[in-house]
Order: sequence, then structure tokens, then C-alpha cells
Amino acid sequence: MSESNDIDLAAEIARRRTFAIISHPDAGKTTITEKLLLLGGAIQVAGTVKARKSGRYARSDWMEIEQSRGISVTSSVMQFEYADHTINLLDTPGHNDFSEDTYRTLTAVDAALMIIDAAKGVEERTIRLLEVCRLRHTPIITFINKLDRESRPPLDLLDEIEKSLGIACTPATWPIGSGKSFVGVFDFARDAVLPYATRKDETSTWLPLAAAEQLPAGIDRDALVDEIELVRGAGFEFNHDDFIAGRQTPVYFGSALHNFGVREALDALVRIAPPPGARQSTTRLVAPDEKTFSGFVFKIQANMDPSHRDRIAFLRVCSGHYENPTRAFHVRLGREVSLQNAVTFMASSRIRSEQAFPGDIIGIHNHGTIQIGDTFTGGETLQFTGIPYFAPELFRRAVLRDPLRMKAMAKGLQEIGEEGAVQVFKPLFNNDLILGAVGMLQFEVVAWRLQHEYRVDSAFEPVDIYTVRWVSSDSAADLAEFRERQATRLATDASGALAYLAPSRAALALVVERWPSLRFHATREHGSAPA
Ligand code: G4P
Repeated sequence: MSESNDIDLAAEIARRRTFAIISHPDAGKTTITEKLLLLGGAIQVAGTVKARKSGRYARSDWMEIEQSRGISVTSSVMQFEYADHTINLLDTPGHNDFSEDTYRTLTAVDAALMIIDAAKGVEERTIRLLEVCRLRHTPIITFINKLDRESRPPLDLLDEIEKSLGIACTPATWPIGSGKSFVGVFDFARDAVLPYATRKDETSTWLPLAAAEQLPAGIDRDALVDEIELVRGAGFEFNHDDFIAGRQTPVYFGSALHNFGVREALDALVRIAPPPGARQSTTRLVAPDEKTFSGFVFKIQANMDPSHRDRIAFLRVCSGHYENPTRAFHVRLGREVSLQNAVTFMASSRIRSEQAFPGDIIGIHNHGTIQIGDTFTGGETLQFTGIPYFAPELFRRAVLRDPLRMKAMAKGLQEIGEEGAVQVFKPLFNNDLILGAVGMLQFEVVAWRLQHEYRVDSAFEPVDIYTVRWVSSDSAADLAEFRERQATRLATDASGALAYLAPSRAALALVVERWPSLRFHATREHGSAPA
């Protein structure tokens, strides 16, 4: 296992920030990502990220793109240096490629940057993503974007965030006007104004509020002072503990398109977001500064070229450090393996990583020996927790066009399921195969892959399932009775765990009420015992 004395592990940990962006499509994630990479010097030209955005491609293009694969793999993790820190930005697939990967990526970060469109406010997908962050109490920094367009009043937006996301807001900056009358932001800590017009050249010239005569035309200083007083008096005090616990979010305003206010949000990430911390496992907390290497896999990406059937497993380093090659204990398989030639993901290219530290992500080539949720340690048998499977929200019945290919389809779905591309449920009382996903494109990917990789011609039909809940109970008798009574609505997932296929929200509520001794879980931990 890699241990080395000349590495200052504590310093490497302290300078790392690992985060993801959560937002509704079109709020500005791609634009912000690009500005962050520009600020970090990882790219030189605007447009680099934009051109890659998979949502921009027509659906037919997507398959081609995915075939060549390089694109989505390299943009999965973007590492760059900023202000003496190593920043890992993990991509959360949005638009069409929204999937369980999006959710699971959030289990591998230490903080999230939430982007809200200033005209639209809190949108549906942001709510879903924040719920996932809440499972781990992830600290959230908020960026309210597109102030250069007509926006809703800032207090309105803060109020909506508090009410619909259940997280207290503490404005760090405050917008002065919006749209055509947007003139800048006021920074509470600096007690100064950053004029919008001066920022086009990316130099920041903060003007003290006291120096009224220097403020740009268009700022009514008295009105601004009154407004700032009002906001200051409203009790939005920043509390670092509340932020770390995910109860409070500092809010920044700006325009990603014009790179205005983005630097302040990135500075906040470096200054107040936590470095990699201890991770919970089945047996104990694992501290990042433990000498022995450990980590877990949160995402698998398959190479869709059938002649190169390898997969890349994305592993988050939790403790110690990786250096090529590192011997590690593959806990699920119960044997030592060599993790070699791992790739790290610089913003613009894939390079072989010589070293990786807690908070970093490495990509490990394998041929199916690594699954989502797998833990690697220095020999200890423990399993990192909190990398769950999420209850799918969309369902289809897989129908085989050629009955002779049943075995091939089962094998294909098993393998594709292991990569987390889709979940497969087998009803207890018939031979259907039910696929579950959170994004529509997942079904198309599966159909395409079945056809091209397994030569299985399949069709997917709608099925009357609203959601699934994994079922467990301390009472074996009650569980057995439930199995009998609800047999037509029960299935096992790929791991053999029992799941209830609810036809509607009302039906789910009824079942939960009728069976108080049973537990209905919206997530299932990797490796948990089948119910
Ligand atoms: P996403 O990744 O969250 O889906 O959003 P993306 O960054 O692609 O932004 C969505 C649209 O909003 C883009 O316009 C983008 O240019 C615009 N946008 C992002 N930030 C700002 C901002 O601060 N101000 C203004 N005015 N617009 C912003 P589009 O027309 O859909 O794309 P494009 O044709 O300009 O590329």
C-alpha cells in the first residue's frame, strides 16, 4: 500500500475542494463551469466547455458521441488549481442525460454550488438534487445567475429558496438593479460595490460604499444605503456551523455569461467550503489523514465500443494517497488487487495520474470486476456507506422481439445494470423485466446497447408503476405475510433485494399505513442484505 514519508498528507487534504454544481437545465451550469475553468487557468478560450455540452447535440448525435466516449469521460471530473487549492469539479449530467449518476455524483462531493436563474427562481430539478444533498448534509453555496436580465426581486428569491428548499439564506452579495438597469453587486463583508461595467476586463475594482462620488452613474447611493441597512437588519447572519451542516447557504448574485460575480462564489468555495472530511463506513469513521489508501466507486462508465469492452470506475479517494501502482483490498471480492494506470481528469485532457489525495477522483480501467459502491481499503473489511441506489422515477417493461435471445437480454441487462445505467426489477409472480430510471435517455441508451453490444432487439413498453420502495422489516412473519398479500406488486432488484412497485402515490401511502411494522426505503445502500 502506498505510504510515503515525504508527502505532507495533511497539507494536501487541506488544499482540496471537491464539489458539484446543482441546477435546473438552462440555469447556467455550463456557462459557470466554463468561467470557473477560465478562472482556474484550466482553459484559455471561452466556448471549450459549451461545445461539449451533450445536451446541445441532437439525440442521434448523442449515440455517436458516446461511442467515441472521450467526451463524456473527460468532462466527468474537472480538476484545476485556483488560489493555491486543487479544485475537483464533478459533473452532474443534466438535460437529457440526467440519470442516477447525477444523484450518485452528489454522494462523492464535499460541497455543492447551487445555481438559480434570477428570473425563474427555484425549479423542479434543483429541488430533487437538493434533496439528495440533504441526505449527507452537504454544504451549499448559492449563485443567483443572469442578473443582466430582468430578474425577480432578490428578497423574493431568497424567500422562495428558504420555503421550497428548506435552507436558510444569508446573502453575501446583493444585486443593484437587474436587466438593463443592473449596475453591480454590493458585498456585505467588504462593504463595497463591484460595478458591473468595470468587470468586463475581469479586474475587480471594489468601490467603498462610503466613496459615493466614485460609484458609477445609475446607482442611487441613498436608496442603496437604505436597502443594505434593511437587508443587514433582517437577521441574515452567516454562521459557519450552519453552513457546514447544510442548514444555511451563503448567496451570491451575478451573471455567469459576463463572468460577473463568479469569482466571488469560487473564492467562497475555497474559503468556507470544507476540505475532504471523515467518511462513514459500516464499521467506523475513516479519517482522510489515515496513512492507508481507501476509497469508493460512485460511477461506472462503459466503453460502448464492443471491441473494447472495458469500463472506467470513478473512485473517490477517502484516505491516504494513490500512486501508480497502488495495491488495495477490494472488499466485495475479498482480495487484494493492483490499481494501476489510473487516470485523472484534468479539465482539457486525460493524463495518467501519478498521485491522488483524499477528495480527488481517479478512473480505474476494469472489465466488470468493479461495481458502483465498491470500497477499496488497505486490507480492512469495511464498506463506505452513503452511495445508495435511488428509487427510479420512470419505468418500462422490456419486451423481447426474438424469444430465443432471452438469455442474451438477461445478461445484457445484468451488466448494464451493474454500471448503474438502469435498474432492473424482476416481478415475483411473472417473468417480466422491469427497467427503472430517473432520466428518459437511460432507456434509449439501454435499447441501443442491447442491440449493438448484445444483438438483442428489444422494445420498452409503458407500465403502471409510479415509484418503487425497498422493503425491510424486523419481523420476518410480517414480511412473509406482506410478500404473500402483495405478491403481484413485488419484485426483486439486481441484488435480490425486495421492492414494492407502487402503482400510485396514493397506493404507496396506503401500503405504508397498512403495514406499520415494515420499512419502505427510497434508497438502497450498496451491498445491503436482500430483505
Ligand atoms: P445549463 O448548462 O445549466 O443548461 O445552462 P447554460 O450554461 O447552457 O445556459 C443556458 C442559457 O442561458 C444559454 O443561452 C446561456 O448563454 C444563458 N446564460 C447563462 N448564464 C447567463 C447569464 O448570466 N446571463 C444571460 N443573459 N444568459 C446566461 P442559450 O441561448 O440557451 O445558449 P447559447 O445559444 O447562448 O449557447
